[in-house]
Amino acid sequence: MGPEKVVAFGPGRVNLIGEHTDYNGGLAMPFAIERGVTVTATRANRWEVDALDFREHDEFSKPNRVRGWKSFHRGMIAELRAAGYELHPAHLVLTGNVPRGSGLSSSAALEAALALALLGLSGEDPPADLRDLAKLCSKVENEWVGAETGLLDQFASLLSHEGHVLRIDFTSLDVESYPLELGDWQLVTMDSGATHNLAASGYNQRRAECRAACEALGIGSLREAGDLGALDGTLLKRARHVVSENARVDATAQALEAHDLATVARLLDESHASLRDDYEASVPEVEATVARLKAAGAAGARMVRGGFGGSVLALLPPGVARPESALAVAPGPPARLL
Ligand code: GLA
Repeated sequence: MGPEKVVAFGPGRVNLIGEHTDYNGGLAMPFAIERGVTVTATRANRWEVDALDFREHDEFSKPNRVRGWKSFHRGMIAELRAAGYELHPAHLVLTGNVPRGSGLSSSAALEAALALALLGLSGEDPPADLRDLAKLCSKVENEWVGAETGLLDQFASLLSHEGHVLRIDFTSLDVESYPLELGDWQLVTMDSGATHNLAASGYNQRRAECRAACEALGIGSLREAGDLGALDGTLLKRARHVVSENARVDATAQALEAHDLATVARLLDESHASLRDDYEASVPEVEATVARLKAAGAAGARMVRGGFGGSVLALLPPGVARPESALAVAPGPPARLL
């Protein structure tokens, strides 16, 4: 028997570096941010869900499949039950402050908050290894919401450490944390304003190209890639981005240990150039936003997330003021019951 009411919070995330590496068995370095999604769950006789920010309502007795926002909570209920948890029906109230479509992963924030609220209300402990819960959240996103994403966002929302970035190895699923000591430097994100229709199809096409590169090289994942000599054209470019991006994640870890933020900024620039030229995942609005941030004094700036729109992340050196439309981001705590 659980409590009458619980409130759970799931944070959005920023990925410092390591883009398009998660589904390639590679390395990434995200952190949870302060903004996120809050789910308030109260015991009820049947399922009822209110999405305050969209003024939408859902009611059901069995969580069958539907499209759109309802697929998140219905999928979460079904997958938690399939994993053996006994869930008590609830009235769920959802609200968030992550700008949707900005690339700060409101989806993973919602999944993490839903999972913790549903388990908490039912008196069920989350798995001792939260990577298992992150995988379950990702399953909901892949199989119920229908987005073919990797594990990056769910790992970041559930496993982050305040004041730290995670170094996630998507082959071993090992997670380490590194202190992110910014001192007088600031990390900011700025929305490019581009919400491209290409986002989902472009992302899925890149995944298919990476699979094709693996087939051509006779390997299971680009993490195993050594010599890329057997590739040319588009597949060579895609593989070169992934291999070089993994190296930049480790270079960033070293720079953070050395408190060398100027090198981190340079690595952000190199990541952006690789995503633009080799991964071809940029769009004019994103390029204009990078240029704006650099003109405002950013030492490094790069596109984040799946590409084809969304936000730009920039590192501002001491003395450079945050541009008005930019949001300051810093590593906050992971998803939790409040
Ligand atoms: C999206 C996906 C992640 C990851 C990034 C690219 O944000 O949700 O799983 O693949 O794109 O790094």
